[in-house]
Amino acid sequence: MKLLNKPLKLSALQIRLTKTLLHLLILGWVIITFYQSVTDNLGADPVKALIHFSGIGALNLLLITLLISPAARYLPAPALMRFRRMLGIYVFVYAVIHLLTYISFELQFDWSLVVSEIIKRPYITVGMVALLLLTALTATSPNKVRQRLGKRWQRLHNSIYLVVFLALLHFSWSRKTGLQEPLIYWFIALLIVLPRLQTLKQRVTRSR
Ligand code: HEM
Repeated sequence: MKLLNKPLKLSALQIRLTKTLLHLLILGWVIITFYQSVTDNLGADPVKALIHFSGIGALNLLLITLLISPAARYLPAPALMRFRRMLGIYVFVYAVIHLLTYISFELQFDWSLVVSEIIKRPYITVGMVALLLLTALTATSPNKVRQRLGKRWQRLHNSIYLVVFLALLHFSWSRKTGLQEPLIYWFIALLIVLPRLQTLKQRVTRSR
């Protein structure tokens, strides 16, 4: 069943305007939150609040990015696919901000501490692996690289599901108490990923 009577189409101008709006919203949110932290408006522990904001922001953007292609197919609204790469890149940007906030404000650029945190704390190790995978996906996102990689591109980009799993594991593991929020995210991620398992299996078989 389709929700729209005819496929939603957007003109080049509408796509450009929507992209500009998304840039303003996603980057504006970062600027406003960091401004609140320097003006003492982010609660008793601004560093924790910034780590929370960037971590949850990256996760939300990741799930929204995964929703784009089913939404484009089932609404139908193929034009939505024009925003997928941009949102995917912002997942990476938020994750990098998350890491930088942690290294600068929490660990005060103590590099030996950074290395020991990555090795000794399993939830940090998991977050690091997720970020390394996101880096590979972002670096191979331009169309030219996609064409050059051919079939290998899809195989590599299927690892976005592994990133979701690692990010959720990292999130849950970072919590000593209050597992309600991570559990809600696991549930939403399952709702998004489960209907796509069949397609994913076919893709993996085909790419072999
Ligand atoms: C180098 C990689 C990473 C490092 C060093 C890192 C570090 C951290 C730290 C220190 C926390 C706070 C734990 C606490 O409250 O004590 C945290 C929480 C979190 N991280 Fe990461 N992280 C990394 C990658 C990621 C990635 C890739 C994502 C998502 C795509 C992510 C999402 C989250 C979320 C959702 C939380 C929970 C925030 C909260 O409960 O306040 N992290 N991370």
